[in-house]
Amino acid sequence: MKLCMIGTGYVGLVSGVCFSDLGNDVICVDKDLKKIEDLKKGIIPIYEPGLEELVIKNYKNKRLTFSNNLKESIKKSDVIFICVGTPTKKGGSSADLTQIYNAAKEIASSINKFKIIITKSTVPVTTGDEIEKIISKKVSKNKFSVVSNPEFLREGEAIRDFTYPDRIVVGTHEKKSNQIMKNLYSPLISKGASYVHTSRRAAELIKYAANAFLATKITFINEIANLCEQTGINVEDVSIGIGLDKRIGGRFLRAGPAYGGSCFPKDTKAITSTADKFKTNLSVIKSVIKSNEKRSILLLNRVNKILQKKIKNKKILFLGVTFKANTDDMRDSSSLSMIPALSKKGALISYYDPTGEKKEFKKVKNVKFEKDFKSAIRESDLTIVHTEWNDFKSINFKLLLNRKKLTVYDMRNIYSPNKMRKQGVRYFGIGR
Ligand code: UGA
Repeated sequence: MKLCMIGTGYVGLVSGVCFSDLGNDVICVDKDLKKIEDLKKGIIPIYEPGLEELVIKNYKNKRLTFSNNLKESIKKSDVIFICVGTPTKKGGSSADLTQIYNAAKEIASSINKFKIIITKSTVPVTTGDEIEKIISKKVSKNKFSVVSNPEFLREGEAIRDFTYPDRIVVGTHEKKSNQIMKNLYSPLISKGASYVHTSRRAAELIKYAANAFLATKITFINEIANLCEQTGINVEDVSIGIGLDKRIGGRFLRAGPAYGGSCFPKDTKAITSTADKFKTNLSVIKSVIKSNEKRSILLLNRVNKILQKKIKNKKILFLGVTFKANTDDMRDSSSLSMIPALSKKGALISYYDPTGEKKEFKKVKNVKFEKDFKSAIRESDLTIVHTEWNDFKSINFKLLLNRKKLTVYDMRNIYSPNKMRKQGVRYFGIGR
């Protein structure tokens, strides 16, 4: 099939490349000419394991092309995926759909034969209806079909998530579009992915409900972890003990810092704002948002306790600053609030991240990037494991001990408390 991906951000680039790897002809389009020129040279704008190899392979065999000419690319394609950003509106909580509607207008002025237009971006319920209205102002309704096909990729695991999805959700009322979508996904369906056909509005809501539910699950275990800390219980035992109940499930029950990234914070806000618009109060999700916003303060209070209320001039090292491992993404990472807050209190902060120095901290007082995290651990008064990179999992702290005792606050529970104590480390975890 001939596909066009509008927007080569995370979703557009990964799904475009993976669709080409399944044998389709894919044009990835972006307004950013530099990005397009870089991609043609095999320079990938994001850190995503396995992506570079797939881009180079499919670009070489000509199934994947890059362009900044949207009109031409639409004309050449049968299936158009809208993969542009839907950030939170400035000063509000609803999704900003400017880029979606601009894409719809561009599509409307370039339709030359029947097209399926698919929203892969995360869009609020009824956005498909709006796109249909915009396009039908210029094009007759039998020339196009608007479908919702949300994406469930996780950063850092995106290629695997695309190739082995739990489910593929397609929202459309039209038989013909549904059949084309089924054909497009048939290589994944034959490998075991469930194909869920729903109404367009249901597909739009499934995406938000899934992210909001996962955010709720994480927030739930984070609050249970708070209780564990007061009662001498290890939260890991609780996660295993409840997660083995198949009705609950063990995944997304890792307690840690506030959840972050480009999706959960934005989507939880957007779904409550959509519900408000429809006069429905999503009170559970609203309290999840509040609890998550307060989480960094709770963790900072613990830092204060660990350092016996003497933060000024203490050397604090952050291992990892991205919102999770295997990504260079800093969006809504809890380190963005924790590091400046500690710096304000007079701490001397250093940080190491496998994806390098971050522009976000360049202007924050007393914050520096470390290249050698092992010697930085030796120098620190407190090492905070903020992100669960594999690089940190096998550190031999015994070899790093010098005259003073090392103190570690493991915000991801990647170490065994007993082993750490045996290695002579003053150890603190989350909910243990
Ligand atoms: C999330 C969803 O998991 C994807 O299914 C979805 O497609 C994506 O958003 C999206 O809407 O585009 P992502 O933001 O890449 O994916 O990352 P997650 O792995 O879900 O992690 C999100 C946050 O939750 C991170 O801060 C992570 O550290 C935290 N988390 C996750 C926990 O604290 N505990 C867990 O057990 C799992």
